[in-house]
Amino acid sequence: MWDYNNKVMDYFLNPRNVGEIADADAEAEVGNMTCGDALRIFLKIDEKTHKILDAKFKTFGCASAIASSSILTEIVIGMTVEEAARVTNRDIVDRLGELPEEKMHCSVMGMEALQAALGEYAKKHGLSLPEVKNDDPDDHEGRIVCKCFGVTDAKIRKVVRLNHLTTVAQVTEYTKAGGACGTCLDQIQQILDEMNNTVHAPAEAEKPQTVDFDALSPVKKALKVQEVIDKEIKPALERDGGSIELIDLDGDVVKVTLRGVCATCPNSKLTLRKLVQGKLHEFLSDRLTVEEA
Ligand code: FES
Repeated sequence: MWDYNNKVMDYFLNPRNVGEIADADAEAEVGNMTCGDALRIFLKIDEKTHKILDAKFKTFGCASAIASSSILTEIVIGMTVEEAARVTNRDIVDRLGELPEEKMHCSVMGMEALQAALGEYAKKHGLSLPEVKNDDPDDHEGRIVCKCFGVTDAKIRKVVRLNHLTTVAQVTEYTKAGGACGTCLDQIQQILDEMNNTVHAPAEAEKPQTVDFDALSPVKKALKVQEVIDKEIKPALERDGGSIELIDLDGDVVKVTLRGVCATCPNSKLTLRKLVQGKLHEFLSDRLTVEEA
């Protein structure tokens, strides 16, 4: 039995917005009954304002699939399609409080269904929604990596980037890829290696030298933190249109401000914890914690 929190159990036992919208302006289905999870989402959208007036869902799946789908409908009702296109699986998990790691694919399924429905609506109305482009089947340039679950490299890259995943096991938890015959595991590792090389890990020679961080003076500590931010963190954020600024080093607390798209990104807390704090731990000291100034 999975250890679900009270909110997940509430949305599972009392799901909101279950059903169909007969005259839906957009709908999409993702998943596959034979794989154990499927979700169909229906959206009623005001064609003048492009605001989502109503959302309903039908899900075949476990408690976390039902809870994720239900809370997703509540998240998007009242949003414009542009706003809804920026909703990610992290928003679903954050609104639920948490999901077991093994059930993260349920939140990803919700994001996919929403983006597929919005992609259909955008195409019909000539709207540009860059966030959903990768999930539009006609625009899709990905290749199938996991044949068992029909998961493309584009989907794996997107989920890895949004959730800062680092291991094949995590990719399986978030996408199911690799969770059956396992013949795609090497390819998933290759994708992670490529992404880690280009996004996270610099060439060995470029890594700052390992230092006894705790033995440094406060000024030298601050300089080292700045160096890691400049070399290891900023380039990754700038590739996505964001940036970061070191504001202060107060003992072991690193105070930073996120800039650009990172400043308003719904995943900013995750970026601070996994990317920024993770790099500072990797290169300097496990004692450092990161806070937004
Ligand atoms: S091809 Fe991915 S699990 Fe079988």
